[in-house]
Amino acid sequence: MPTLSEALVYLNGEFSPLGEAKISVMDRGFLLGDAVYEVIPVFSGVPFRLAHHLNRLNNSLKAIKIPEPLEQKSWISIIEKLCAQFTDENQSIYLQVTRGISPTRDHVFPQDAKPTVFIMAKPVDMDTLPDPYQGVSAITIDDIRWRYCYIKATTLLANVLAKQSALEQDASEAILIRDGNALEGAASNLFIVKDNNIITPPKSENLLPGITRDVILELANNHDLVVTESNISLDELGNADEIWLTSSVKEVVPVVTLDNQPVADGHPGEQWKKMKLLYEDFKKSLSPQPSH
Ligand code: PDD
Repeated sequence: MPTLSEALVYLNGEFSPLGEAKISVMDRGFLLGDAVYEVIPVFSGVPFRLAHHLNRLNNSLKAIKIPEPLEQKSWISIIEKLCAQFTDENQSIYLQVTRGISPTRDHVFPQDAKPTVFIMAKPVDMDTLPDPYQGVSAITIDDIRWRYCYIKATTLLANVLAKQSALEQDASEAILIRDGNALEGAASNLFIVKDNNIITPPKSENLLPGITRDVILELANNHDLVVTESNISLDELGNADEIWLTSSVKEVVPVVTLDNQPVADGHPGEQWKKMKLLYEDFKKSLSPQPSH
C-alpha cells in the first residue's frame, strides 16, 4: 500500500503521487480563495452519498459561476480509482475546484480560465477517532462569516479562527451564533433535543446544507422520532437536553460540555444513543453484500 505522499492524486486530468502534485502560484484558489470543495467519507470501500456530494458541489460551482469541469461519470470513475489504491474500508476523499489560473492577480474573473480540479483519497483509521460515547466539548462564538454560508467555499478563515478558539479553550468545536441564533459548528451542523423533540436550524444562506444532516433527518423521520427544522436561540441551546454535531468526518457526536457547563447531566443523551445506532445500522445496510 502506498504511503500518503506516494499515493496517487488527481490534478487536472493527470494522476501523480501527492508528494509531486503541484499547482501554479497564479492559481486563484491560492491567491484569492476562489474555490469550492467537498469532503466525502468512504465506508466499507463505498463513497457515502456520492451523488448528494456531487450535487452539492455543482450547486456551489453554480453559485460562484465556475462551469462544471467534469461530468458525473468522470467524477465517479476518478474517485473509484483513487479509493482502490488502499485496502482500508474507511477513507476520506477531498475534492477541490478553483476558478483556475490568472495571467495577473486580478479580482475580476479571467477570460477563458480552465478550472483547476484536485482530488485525493486518504485512509481513515476509525479506531484512532475520539470515542463518540465520551462526548465532546464545544464553545459558542460570534459568527463572523460572510452571508453565503450555503456555498462550500474554501475561503474558511472565519471557520479556522473559530475552531482554533475552541481548541484554545479545550473544546473541539465552536458553535456559531448570529442574530441570537445558533446556526452550526465551524465544520459541522447542529442539532438539539428538547423534551424528546430533535431540532435543527432550517436550511438557509446562513448554513451549509450538510449531507450528514440530511441523513439524520431521514433516519429520524423513518423511525418515528419527532424532528423539527426551526431556529435555535442561544437560550434554547443553553437549555437543551442534548446537543449533537454532525459531519462527514464526525458522523454524529454528542456535545456534553458547552462553554464549560455540562449539557444536562453532562453525558450523551438517550436520543443520541438511539440515533447513533440508527446511523451505524444505516451505514451497514449500504455495505456491499458478499457475492455467492
Ligand atoms: N465540513 N457545516 C460546515 C460549516 C462544514 O464545514 C461542514 C463539513 C458541515 C457538515 O457537512 P457534511 O455533513 O456534508 O460533511 C456543516 C467538512 C467535513 C470540512 O470542512 O472538512
